[in-house]
Amino acid sequence: MTAVRTVATTPFEGQKPGTSGLRKKVRVFRQPHYLENFVQAIFDSIGEVAGKTLVLGGDGRFHNRAACQTILKMAAAAGFAKVMVGQGGILSTPAASCVIRKYRTFGGIILSASHNPGGEDEDFGIKYNIPAGGPAPEAVTEAIFARTAAIRDYRILEAADIDLDAVGTRQLGPMAVEVFDPVADYAELMDRLFDFAAIRALFAGGFRMKFDAMHAVTGPYATAILEGMLGAPAGTVMNGIPREDFGGGHPDPNLVHAHELVEILFGEGAPDFGAASDGDGDRNMVLGRNFYVTPSDSLAVLAANATLCPGYAGGLKGIARSMPTSAAADRVAEALGIPAFETPTGWKFFGTLLDAGLATLCGEESFGTGSDHVREKDGLWAVLMWLNVLAARREPVADIVRAHWAKFGRNVYSRHDYEGIDSAAANGLMDHLRGLDLKGKRLGAYTVAFSDDFAYTDPVDGSVSTKQGIRIVFEDGSRVVFRLSGTGTEGATLRVYIEQYEPDPARHHLDPQDALADLIAIAREVAQIEARTGRAEPTVIT
Ligand code: G1P
Ligand code: ZN
Repeated sequence: MTAVRTVATTPFEGQKPGTSGLRKKVRVFRQPHYLENFVQAIFDSIGEVAGKTLVLGGDGRFHNRAACQTILKMAAAAGFAKVMVGQGGILSTPAASCVIRKYRTFGGIILSASHNPGGEDEDFGIKYNIPAGGPAPEAVTEAIFARTAAIRDYRILEAADIDLDAVGTRQLGPMAVEVFDPVADYAELMDRLFDFAAIRALFAGGFRMKFDAMHAVTGPYATAILEGMLGAPAGTVMNGIPREDFGGGHPDPNLVHAHELVEILFGEGAPDFGAASDGDGDRNMVLGRNFYVTPSDSLAVLAANATLCPGYAGGLKGIARSMPTSAAADRVAEALGIPAFETPTGWKFFGTLLDAGLATLCGEESFGTGSDHVREKDGLWAVLMWLNVLAARREPVADIVRAHWAKFGRNVYSRHDYEGIDSAAANGLMDHLRGLDLKGKRLGAYTVAFSDDFAYTDPVDGSVSTKQGIRIVFEDGSRVVFRLSGTGTEGATLRVYIEQYEPDPARHHLDPQDALADLIAIAREVAQIEARTGRAEPTVIT
């Protein structure tokens, strides 16, 4: 017997989705009613759900399985006809987007805190993706948040837990639960976009690669596609089994957290190519032998070489990047005669551009690259696109990037993060920057052309987003940008983005930290970083 139980509840404060969904410590999510309130708020905010199909899965972190069971029972109580759930509760974020689109479902719920650590004392997260496959736009997340503040009860089916490990369809009360292979649909899509035969030939010729799945969700995808379909030797994928605590690591593919991979690519006898992905599989880092490709450059290089890939052979419609991302991609767009878009931080802002056919490729400096094939950034997709380019060009990664700089000039770029600083101090710093009148002022050797708090009007739906980061732009086009992270769960994180255009190839080999030293010093001074946060140095430099 199964019955729907209505459970009385009271609102929790702060169930406000951030840059990418609601993220909190696991212990916060495990409080009675906490997850349930938020899930009911989603179901109450997205329109009629009766008879619809929902996709469900997550990055496999601690609490993923338990949360799946709760959500399934609540979906059944809400009247969904069916939930498609990835086997074992596993579904990478881009694969979830792929499945939502392919089966035209009424969106999906993704359980992930992305690159944040996992485990009993670490982070958990949940977000709703709309039927187009992308993260819910702000109007929807605002509605969900408003609902969390007013919620009085939620509904849940009283039933035993369902088996999530065996593929197949079973009943949960009146609702069907289809447990499916989380890799198959995604792998099929990748095979259509890229020249798998050429990449197979590349590997067959002795090309060597290391892919660091960081004990996170991309492991099964990378193993099936790289080692299975593309014939890369066994062992190409490292840390390929998803763990609830990501092996105790921080599954963020950057130079600091993916150091195991970095050491291999910069070590003796390094392979030709290295890549890593994050907790939920939407981020990527790309390395050549002894060479690091910044995400901003990666977007630009992929855009410039896109027509080498079957899925993009017809050319690109446009390129979109988030505001703090370097303008390297804009130069490619200009050369291709296609539009370039500058959006606020967060993948959700690309959705309307992709849906309207205005942009094909999108990217963020935060190791996010993607295209109109899904509505999320896609780590393994970016890696496969690089492999396709490498298979076609047969040149080392470093040579490809240097040739790109020689042709377009180099947007020298770096991001400095100050993590875990006091929230009041962080807000004070931003207020201080907002209050400055800098236009025409000289800072060091630079003159300020303008400074503002970035605001964006979506060219498709006209929605306006304000306070998206302080930009100080200098007369030579150099700039420093300041914003506070919207994804953290403890204190505040200040992000400082520094960029300078360098047309002279004789200076392209310089270390960005040296080339940008003056601008970095200016950024620290103008924002009074040390005085206000007590930090003399950033926590992470990328
Ligand atoms: C960070 C990145 C941003 C990305 C988001 C989700 O957000 O900076 O580009 O879209 O994670 O992966 P932030 O913490 O800066 O708000
Ligand atoms: Zn992620």
